[in-house]
Amino acid sequence: MPLIKLTVNNIPCTAAVEEGRVTLLELLRDSLGLTGTKYGCGVGQCGACTVVMNGEALTSCTVPARKAEGAEILTIEGLASGYLLHPLQQAFLDAGAVQCGFCTPGLIMRSYALLTAKPKATEAQIIAALDKHICRCTGYESILKAVLQAQKAMGSA
Ligand code: FES
Ligand code: FES
Repeated sequence: MPLIKLTVNNIPCTAAVEEGRVTLLELLRDSLGLTGTKYGCGVGQCGACTVVMNGEALTSCTVPARKAEGAEILTIEGLASGYLLHPLQQAFLDAGAVQCGFCTPGLIMRSYALLTAKPKATEAQIIAALDKHICRCTGYESILKAVLQAQKAMGSA
């Protein structure tokens, strides 16, 4: 079975990946046990599986695992510092932007990539980034509020 070397949440790791179309999402969830990243649609349409690879947010269900060779991956499990939540995680809680929570890891990782690349992202840019995500519970307003709050907490707004 081919081995893939990558860094996940700042930890170098090696994962055996079966031949065929194994996705980065399957590698993270099934091989590495990082189940914070969710499987929603499986075809790049819902955003639930979003992680950050080499600084860029992407839907891990559409990325072949072998493309992650040598990559730096950040998942929701790698965001907090010990028991201290990342400002985005805290803001999602504070703004009531989490209901069932299925969409939340993906939304947070997309927001993290955006605010890291563009700390002063405008509200319109945030809305455009979040537009790639489906949430069946919240109605989106609290999600936008959370990202704007986090942007302030990160000292960028
Ligand atoms: Fe990947 Fe929906 S599960 S975009
Ligand atoms: Fe349930 Fe978004 S909180 S899908």
